Amino acid sequence: MRDASPQTIYLKDYTPFGYIIDAVDLTFRLDPTATRVISRLSLRPNPEASDPCFFLHGEDLKLISAKIDGQDIAPRLIEGGLEADVPNAPFVWETEVEINPQANTALEGLYMSNGMYCTQCEAQGFRKITYYPDRPDVMSVFTVRIEGNTDTTPQLLSNGNKVETGALSNSDAQFAVWHDPWPKPAYLFALVAGDLVAHQDSIVTMSGKTVQLAIWVRPGDENKCSFGMDALKKSMRWDEDVYGREYDLDEFNIVAVDDFNMGAMENKGLNIFNSSCVLASAETSTDANFERIEAIIAHEYFHNWTGNRITCRDWFQLCLKEGLTVFRDHQFTADERSAPVARIDNVLALRARQFPEDQGPLSHPVRPESFQEINNFYTATVYEKGAEVIGMLKTLVGDAAYAKALDLYFDRHDGDAATIEDWLKVFQDSTGRDLSQFKRWYSQSGTPQVTVREDYDGDTFTLHMSQSTAPSTEQPNKLPQVIPVAVGLLDDAGNEILPTQVLELDQDEKSFSFSGMSARPTPSILRNFSAPVMLTQEGGNSRRAFLLAHDTDPFNRWEAGRMLARASLVDSITTGSAPNPDYLSGLVAVLSDTTLDPAYRALMFGQPTQSELAGILHESSTAPDPQAIHDASETLRAAKAETLADMLPDLYAQNQVTGPFSPDAEAVGKRALANAALALLSRQDGGATAALQYQNSDNMTQQLAALAALLDVGAGDDHLAAFEAQWSHDRLVMDKWFSLQIMQAKPEDVADTTRRLTLHADFDMKNPNRFRAVMGALSMHHAGFHHDGGAAYTLLTDWLIKLDPLNPQTTARMCSAFQTWTRYDAGRQALLRAQLERLVATPNLSRDTSEMITRILG
Ligand code: PHE
Ligand code: ZN
Repeated sequence: MRDASPQTIYLKDYTPFGYIIDAVDLTFRLDPTATRVISRLSLRPNPEASDPCFFLHGEDLKLISAKIDGQDIAPRLIEGGLEADVPNAPFVWETEVEINPQANTALEGLYMSNGMYCTQCEAQGFRKITYYPDRPDVMSVFTVRIEGNTDTTPQLLSNGNKVETGALSNSDAQFAVWHDPWPKPAYLFALVAGDLVAHQDSIVTMSGKTVQLAIWVRPGDENKCSFGMDALKKSMRWDEDVYGREYDLDEFNIVAVDDFNMGAMENKGLNIFNSSCVLASAETSTDANFERIEAIIAHEYFHNWTGNRITCRDWFQLCLKEGLTVFRDHQFTADERSAPVARIDNVLALRARQFPEDQGPLSHPVRPESFQEINNFYTATVYEKGAEVIGMLKTLVGDAAYAKALDLYFDRHDGDAATIEDWLKVFQDSTGRDLSQFKRWYSQSGTPQVTVREDYDGDTFTLHMSQSTAPSTEQPNKLPQVIPVAVGLLDDAGNEILPTQVLELDQDEKSFSFSGMSARPTPSILRNFSAPVMLTQEGGNSRRAFLLAHDTDPFNRWEAGRMLARASLVDSITTGSAPNPDYLSGLVAVLSDTTLDPAYRALMFGQPTQSELAGILHESSTAPDPQAIHDASETLRAAKAETLADMLPDLYAQNQVTGPFSPDAEAVGKRALANAALALLSRQDGGATAALQYQNSDNMTQQLAALAALLDVGAGDDHLAAFEAQWSHDRLVMDKWFSLQIMQAKPEDVADTTRRLTLHADFDMKNPNRFRAVMGALSMHHAGFHHDGGAAYTLLTDWLIKLDPLNPQTTARMCSAFQTWTRYDAGRQALLRAQLERLVATPNLSRDTSEMITRILG
């Protein structure tokens, strides 16, 4: 079989590789423009494969030589790699290639970032380093020798354990040899070389082994590592305590790089992080940054077992490692911080990113069945919905059975490249439960709609539930899924008369009865958001107000407030009505309840995003008017500021944090609540309190919240300039400065503000963080992006066209800004379509971007 860039790749076409690689020996002679890579593979025919074709992937490689068992050969160079005739017996394959890291702006393969060499191989970057069967089911033991200039690359890092170092004779170069004893696929390979300093520590694992830990950063960033190191140690301990998983090498290294397409990467023993996802200090990072860093460090560390020790057979199985690892990092965050707050944050993210994906042209199953460019499938559906699916499985089988199944999974599949079938079979075998229907969560795309009707006959209370999922082109007939619906019942005084029960809605329609009810109870449905569905239920706003006041499930209590706000906003947008007074008074009650966690109360301040509202209007067959949505949202915020006016100064004052800065859950919660109050308070005092806070703040959370509040009331221009002067040396802080101005601009000014910022000397399109800070903010400002005339559409498209030849992956990811285009009125759709067609017609457009736009155009 040859898989030289076929157009579309199908899950059903999987076949194993024809050879087994017993060992990989790599030598790198580093040079910015002409790095030599010598690869020696010890191979033998794979008895389980039927196709003996010897095809190796390779891209942008200059072949210097190829040998079999020491004899020069001339392989056939074909698109996407090479082919050769090889012995039907064990043999040694050797190639030498030359690559140019400096010219690599795609940030995939071996590239340079700020003078430092680094790699990114997931999903298919290793083929840009050497000829290799670049597929996750080919696992081997790697030994890596790196040779580099002693001055420019004093540190030479790779996977596994460092086994040898030394000077190279007759030169100013040195070498290091790394050996990774654990067989791994090429996508987990990593190499870093540069002038780096380490923040070091160590940990003793559960079996008493000492592991050396290090976070490697550019000189100057040493003081931003201690939080990440603590997070790493907590993660290692947590995985031992909760999953019984111990770390398996003598050292664990993390490196921070400034130019990175994604958040971070779980390379075996050598995690590489976008610097924004690891560097933290009180002065430069917000509380949200701290929380994200903690979660990402945990996520990458957890991959050591879910992803590395057990990897994926092929890229269709991506959710096997990602869904599970996201689920595990969510569990970790819930344990480290507040569980209800963590759950609400996850659901907010799911609704903001996954629901629009699942309800638009990019919708795909958690396990897709085909793709053109795998990089386009690192999506909210694979990650976030993939994690929800595991959460449902755990809810259905129970905590103890889940723990038992996971033990079996690690026992049975350690060292394997596994599939979703393997994963489900573990649960089936250990619980005896038939999961064939549950599997539809992996194969059917779309967000199920659950509708609940109620019945009461004086004794029995019945919930009639139904489910449906909108058809899609590939799946015109969606079958019913197993939906765990957690339900509790409350009496009129708000007492819980039936504690949470999990009902299994596994048919199109199903009814659940509760007898012996002397009065009609109030149900609290889909507690803790027990399934990633959209819920329609009875009771309207009065039910919501009741649950906002009384629900004993913290998620649903918050949800009731959210739904009240949503209903109020939809009414204002469609009928021009004033904000719902029940929502406002309910909010007063919740916010005054000091027994509630400040972080939780801070979340209560929130209201549905404008993009979410656009989606809801679209679902109810109304073309959303972005300006009207914006105005209604502002009106509701103003009404809140007014209704809460008397409370705001106290809420603000009572939640000030004194003493040295700490990003612990309690302090974070207080700052979140105080800053939510500050945002509204500024509307009353014209920004006086915010200006004071800006002046006195000793941390970025306070400084940035004050600046945002000042910009919001039109009083922030001087502060903005001062902020720039203070922070122009810090790339990560300047990303915030770029974003904030766009986020806080009036809709009519968004495109101009963005254009002006692209002319700023520090706007560097080659840095993904900076590009996203600017273009991401543009696309996320709903009313600004969709402002009349379409200037923002054109601007974003111009920049996507400019970035695509340099960095296809980041360009393609940004294209999702257009995924909701069919929601809007005919005028906007025409403007959007014109830009999408201009983009897709661009000569030499990357496979990444062209697949995205083609799918979006439908
Ligand atoms: N596997 C990484 C993670 O989820 C994400 C990633 C994918 C990073 C592709 C880089 C490239 O942790
Ligand atoms: Zn991951």
